[in-house]
Amino acid sequence: MFKLNFSSKQKQLFKRLYTTSKDFIESESSYQVTTYARPNDLVITRGTNCYLYDDFSGKKYVDFTSGIAVTGLGHSNPQIAQLLYDQAKKLVHCSNLYYNDQALILSDKLVEKTQKFGGQYDISKVFLCNSGSEANEAALKFVKKFGIKISEDRIGIAAFENSFHGRTCGSLSVTYNPKYRTPFGPLVPGAEFFSLSNEGLESLKQKFESGKFAGCIIEPIQGEGGVYPIPIPKLVELKQLCQANNVVLIYDEIQCGMGRSGKLWAHSYLPKEAHPDIFTVAKALGNGFPVAATCINEKINNILKVGDHGTTYGGNPLACRVANYVLDVIGQENFLQQVNEKGAYLVARLNKLKEKYPALIKEIRGKGLIIGCELTQPPNDLVNKCRENGLLIITAGKSTLRFVPALIIEKDVLDEGLDILEKSIGEVFNKK
Ligand SMILES: Cc1ncc(COP(=O)(O)O)c(C=O)c1O
Repeated sequence: MFKLNFSSKQKQLFKRLYTTSKDFIESESSYQVTTYARPNDLVITRGTNCYLYDDFSGKKYVDFTSGIAVTGLGHSNPQIAQLLYDQAKKLVHCSNLYYNDQALILSDKLVEKTQKFGGQYDISKVFLCNSGSEANEAALKFVKKFGIKISEDRIGIAAFENSFHGRTCGSLSVTYNPKYRTPFGPLVPGAEFFSLSNEGLESLKQKFESGKFAGCIIEPIQGEGGVYPIPIPKLVELKQLCQANNVVLIYDEIQCGMGRSGKLWAHSYLPKEAHPDIFTVAKALGNGFPVAATCINEKINNILKVGDHGTTYGGNPLACRVANYVLDVIGQENFLQQVNEKGAYLVARLNKLKEKYPALIKEIRGKGLIIGCELTQPPNDLVNKCRENGLLIITAGKSTLRFVPALIIEKDVLDEGLDILEKSIGEVFNKK
């Protein structure tokens, strides 16, 4: 078996060279562009299942983040490690000049599993790429060509408050948070943001009726923006508006897809009348190995021509081999059922916590294992205290704790993490 863990000799070397994680960060981080706000007391050196380790400090952490909804099947999954090793010996990359077996299998599997598990009923083709932003870029390019074919000025793209679709220029254009967007303007023209209130949808309707809008992009469960599941009737209404005005509907399933919601896709909860024309997938598809997909129906397929889009690494055999395995595991009824059971357990424990701290916990929302717990106070001190006590947890929006643990997390590990959370809440908020 291919082993990923550090040897005790390597660990000793770390210790000898750097006495603490902070020490290591201070001596090694000067060449990294600082685009992330990161704690300066933690260097992750390895992970197993739902735990992460810092071998500099000798600390172990319960991981409720799974690399931001990525490692659904756990860290250093031994089956994935083995098949990465096997495939790396066979073929890593051969470009998109030629077909490769794993990419064909993956495209097939995405279509077959989507149909079987209540996703996009008219799924037709798949474009393979490497990251969430790239999958959305492809979706936006497809939409642009679709619109321009009808009329030169049909370039509008509707997006929504609290959306997050990525950091590349196209995907950023439809990402709501002005803090991310404004330093890089002007971005791709045509993007406009709407609220999902009745008034917001009325104004969207009027815009659509102007004939200037080609597409509309939305996360069925908004992740980064604060963990907001979009109510099913709103998505049904949105699809009706798109349909009535020949606007392409894109669902971004990058965070909420791949079993995270308790169904294969978050849009699997919807009646087929609300299914998208395009949906995008990334994150958990590769369990941490970069791989993504833009899935389209026949309406979109007809507008694509050879040479319209491409990527060097997209659909490489190594990434696709991993994704094939991940889809096989997640795309099973009993797997999805256990996600729902654990999600229900997590929510029940959070509800108890809410009873204990009614002034602190405002709302618990989400589906499956993407759960948000909105606080009445800024969560940063609590997140730091949790880390100090051995739990890694992230936030979403302004004041929401986001629970996106591995989909295979065991109840006792959930309990271990939740006990740390409860203790940390006591330490941070009882003091104030
Ligand atoms: C819903 C959603 N869309 C797109 C992205 C961008 O994906 P990536 O970071 O892989 O480019 C993210 C990342 O957090 C996301 O949550």
